[in-house]
Amino acid sequence: MKFRITGLKYDGSPEPARFVRADGGRGMRHLHRITGLLMGLAMVFAVRSARAQAAPAAGYAGSTECMTCHEKDLGHMNNTLHGKRILQEPRTELEKRGCEACHGPAKAHAESGGEVKTGMVLFGKKPSSAEARDKACLQCHEKANQASFETSKHARRNVACSSCHSLHNPMSAKGQLKTKVETETCFSCHKTQRSQSLRTSHHPVREGKMTCTSCHNPHDGNSPKMIKGESVNELCYTCHTEKRGPFLFEHAPVMEDCVTCHQPHGSSHARMLTQKMPNLCWNCHLTGSGHFGSGDNLSTEHGVGQAPVGAPSGYPTVNSRFIGRACAKCHANLHGSNSPSGAYFIR
Ligand code: HEC
Ligand code: HEC
Ligand code: HEC
Ligand code: HEC
Ligand code: HEC
Ligand code: HEC
Ligand code: HEC
Ligand code: HEC
Ligand code: HEC
Ligand code: HEC
Repeated sequence: MKFRITGLKYDGSPEPARFVRADGGRGMRHLHRITGLLMGLAMVFAVRSARAQAAPAAGYAGSTECMTCHEKDLGHMNNTLHGKRILQEPRTELEKRGCEACHGPAKAHAESGGEVKTGMVLFGKKPSSAEARDKACLQCHEKANQASFETSKHARRNVACSSCHSLHNPMSAKGQLKTKVETETCFSCHKTQRSQSLRTSHHPVREGKMTCTSCHNPHDGNSPKMIKGESVNELCYTCHTEKRGPFLFEHAPVMEDCVTCHQPHGSSHARMLTQKMPNLCWNCHLTGSGHFGSGDNLSTEHGVGQAPVGAPSGYPTVNSRFIGRACAKCHANLHGSNSPSGAYFIR
């Protein structure tokens, strides 16, 4: 069945029934009311044609029944892929269950006027367990990105599909999320990452050029920290390809783990460094045959360029060439060098 609604336009994606708001989101509330009404109508037709195909199985009442009492709960589902594939043009047995494909058999519920809820999957104020809710979704979504959801950190901490997704009233343009902007869904629980993203040095997430899912698959039960890569470095290389090497001279910590020195969610130190310079380098380089322990005196414990109070005159202080970003000015290729004389990452 085809239907059109004023104020919505097809967004050009290959799948049918995917609409975007022609007014860019304004007039949303108004729209909800109109879609509610139109969807109610469309539903009656849709459900009738579904009914013509087959009578509901034992224990199931069929969507037409549900709609007699729940029209207002439909929201704008009819305008989503689920509306299309489950309510309007169902193909598989499961899809033909309509509302009950997700909510479970509800004949007793319907006949009792809403009293009985045993055997149903509830998402409302007194929801079924996260596991039961997820199972309803996984009947159809056990593949692709969602294949390993059950072993993910989210599932193990009872974060359900419906914690992030809303199917009756999705707000995002993509992926049927609860909020218009993806990061807001994540930030509703991840306060630490929210505050990191507000620091001066950050990936362009708050500018909208990247999202959490640029780096994470929130359904993933396989990779560490749900990152989209076999390791942190593999993830970083997908965009920062020049850091992959191979290098003639490798800097051990760089090859090992980028997050030793960088905080990917944002930092108050330039270049998202985990610490300010040169302290970052001093973590590992306080002794050695070069500057350290020699006249350069990089290894003073008294900070930069300053002798401790009461020190005798001539007390060795750090050469001012070695403060701030200076290490990186000379050791400009600290991620690795391909120069025959690059052993010290100077070139
Ligand atoms: C005769 C009216 C009626 C019919 C038919 C009916 N329901 Fe209900 N339903 C209710 C009422 C009333 C409630 C609220 C009960 C409550 O709040 O305790 C309810 C509650 C629910 C809830 C849970 C709401 C919550 O907040 O947890 C779901 C889900 C639901 N119905 C789904 C269905 C489905 C699916 C069908 C079709 C198979 C259906 N209903 C048919 C009246 C009906
Ligand atoms: C693809 C799965 C799916 C289908 C199909 C579906 N629902 Fe829901 N329903 C949900 C989810 C998930 C929620 C939680 C709120 C949300 O996501 O918007 C929900 C919420 C509800 C609620 C509010 C109470 C509650 O349990 O939270 C009612 C009532 C309801 N649905 C009835 C229906 C009716 C009637 C139909 C058929 C017209 C239907 N649903 C079809 C998944 C589904
Ligand atoms: C009866 C099968 C069925 C059930 C049950 C079901 N879905 Fe779907 N879902 C689909 C189909 C079909 C699509 C269309 C895309 C596709 O073919 O994968 C879809 C698409 C989606 C999308 C992507 C929508 C988009 O706009 O890109 C999300 C998100 C989603 N489902 C979440 C859920 C969640 C959460 C649940 C459980 C509350 C659920 N689904 C239950 C069949 C189902
Ligand atoms: C922690 C939040 C979160 C949870 C939990 C979650 N999702 Fe998602 N889901 C997302 C985000 C974010 C997207 C990406 C939206 C986009 O591409 O813009 C997404 C996308 C999807 C899509 C679209 C296709 C794809 O893979 O990109 C489907 C289908 C889907 N989710 C189904 C599910 C199902 C089923 C569950 C439970 C088994 C689930 N999701 C649990 C956040 C979540
Ligand atoms: C309903 C709350 C909730 C929402 C929404 C949510 N998360 Fe989570 N997330 C959690 C919890 C709880 C954990 C487990 C934390 C722990 O064990 O320390 C977690 C863990 C994670 C982890 C770490 C996984 C690991 O292996 O340690 C990542 C990455 C993550 N979430 C990303 C996301 C992204 C991306 C989104 C948005 C698409 C999101 N989360 C939305 C609650 C949520
Ligand atoms: C540029 C890539 C990137 C982006 C964008 C990104 N993350 Fe991460 N995230 C990572 C990496 C890499 C790790 C693993 C860090 C580690 O191994 O210590 C991580 C770890 C996490 C963890 C687990 C933290 C812990 O200490 O265990 C959570 C939660 C998380 N991210 C949430 C988010 C959320 C929410 C967003 C969106 C605001 C987001 N991430 C955006 C790369 C990213
Ligand atoms: C999806 C692509 C993508 C991934 C994956 C990614 N980055 Fe980035 N990164 C960017 C973009 C885009 C910028 C901003 C470039 C700009 O502003 O010119 C950036 C900038 C940076 C910067 C420089 C920030 C500054 O202040 O100039 C650092 C450092 C960085 N990324 C480290 C990492 C690390 C470490 C990882 C792996 C955990 C990673 N990136 C993964 C896209 C990515
Ligand atoms: C030993 C610490 C260290 C490690 C490990 C490290 N970096 Fe860096 N990175 C730095 C420092 C220091 C700077 C700033 C250099 C400057 O100020 O000129 C920087 C700058 C950057 C920049 C921005 C400037 C540029 O060179 O493009 C990117 C992007 C970057 N690093 C990515 C990565 C990636 C990807 C990894 C893992 C493969 C990684 N870094 C591992 C210390 C490190
Ligand atoms: C997590 C520890 C760690 C951090 C942080 C670190 N390095 Fe290194 N660095 C090493 C290791 C290990 C080597 C290899 C030493 C070896 O082969 O003897 C190395 C080698 C070097 C070398 C080559 C010297 C040699 O003896 O081969 C230079 C130069 C260097 N680092 C500079 C820096 C600078 C500049 C910083 C700060 C941006 C920094 N490093 C941060 C661990 C670190
Ligand atoms: C003025 C340029 C310059 C600055 C600034 C500089 N270095 Fe060096 N560094 C060198 C040169 C040149 C070498 C090669 C060996 C030598 O001549 O001592 C070297 C060698 C090294 C070595 C290997 C030899 C050793 O001592 O173990 C390390 C490690 C190192 N530098 C770390 C650092 C750190 C950390 C900083 C910042 C606190 C820093 N360098 C600042 C020029 C510089």
